[in-house]
Amino acid sequence: MEEGWNARYELGIEALDAEHRRLFDLIRQVETMAEGENGGSALLSALREFIEFVEFHFEAEERLMEEHDFSTAGLHRQAHRRLLEDLREFSRQVSRGPAAGARASTGDFLRKWLSEHVSHGDAMLARHLKSKGY
Ligand SMILES: [Fe+2]
Ligand SMILES: [Fe+2]
Repeated sequence: MEEGWNARYELGIEALDAEHRRLFDLIRQVETMAEGENGGSALLSALREFIEFVEFHFEAEERLMEEHDFSTAGLHRQAHRRLLEDLREFSRQVSRGPAAGARASTGDFLRKWLSEHVSHGDAMLARHLKSKGY
């Protein structure tokens, strides 16, 4: 199953949407490396690039939450911490020498990981920002 950016992930906040789009693009890149014959190092460096952009993106969202008095900012921040832990754990598993089956599901795992947070936590944040006239 291959599915990238999709209109249903559009939140109407340009800064967030652009970064989410980039995250979906980076997942596709990870997936290509996972499916290819590039060996583990290409996959790991694509994963690292993805994780770095996730960190950047989470920090940007957290700044927006602070600047616009988002009442559930604490919960959202916790969700980000958990998501990053899951991501790092996933990356550790891959680095231990993934079986072909695990590699094949990399893209699906990351898309599910990202789309659930975008559709729930980030959608709430976007509604709040719009209500503040952002
Ligand atoms: Fe978020
Ligand atoms: Fe986000």
